[in-house]
Amino acid sequence: LNIAVFGSGSGSNYQAIAEAIEKGQLNAQIACVFADNQDAFILERARKFGHPAIYLDCAPFKSKLDGEAEQRAIGMIKEHGGDFIALAGFMRIVKPGLLRAFAGRIVNIHPSLLPNFPGLHAGKQALEAGATETGCTVHFVDEGIDTGPVIIQKRVEILPNDTEETLMNRIHEQEHIAYPEALRRIANGDL
Ligand code: GRF
Repeated sequence: LNIAVFGSGSGSNYQAIAEAIEKGQLNAQIACVFADNQDAFILERARKFGHPAIYLDCAPFKSKLDGEAEQRAIGMIKEHGGDFIALAGFMRIVKPGLLRAFAGRIVNIHPSLLPNFPGLHAGKQALEAGATETGCTVHFVDEGIDTGPVIIQKRVEILPNDTEETLMNRIHEQEHIAYPEALRRIANGDL
């Protein structure tokens, strides 16, 4: 796999993937890293790893990746030899153009046991629902929001004193294990 990573924020999942590659635990490469905002820490992390860190200029205040930005992204992924996409905290919905260009080759990570609690603030949703467990899911991306075939899930127990922050911290720990593991399965052709 030669992976193009898309993020909007911290990029801790990107870092977990990049570290797994460096340690020889994942037979893959990072083609390039995109963020839809210039200040996203994921770009800083990408520069530290020496991966192409690209600000993808998108229409502001939109929840979708517009067709024009999508075409630019596809061009840049090809330029960098990318053949696979990992969404890691990317806050935009990808559209059919990108889905078609990378059919069956786009994955996402979400902080819940899907199909429970899709969408924003999954940790808060789980707490408010009074759930006793939640977790994270790596899944293939389709046209829906946090739908598509599940590759791997990790469970996290919800403790009585959990706040959104303490819960999300434990979910993130599991995400950093789950994402490289899911990519390893794909790279090994286990799916
Ligand atoms: C993760 O919780 C992921 O599940 C969600 O966005 C967050 C990204 O975190 N889609 P990071 O940018 O990888 O640190």
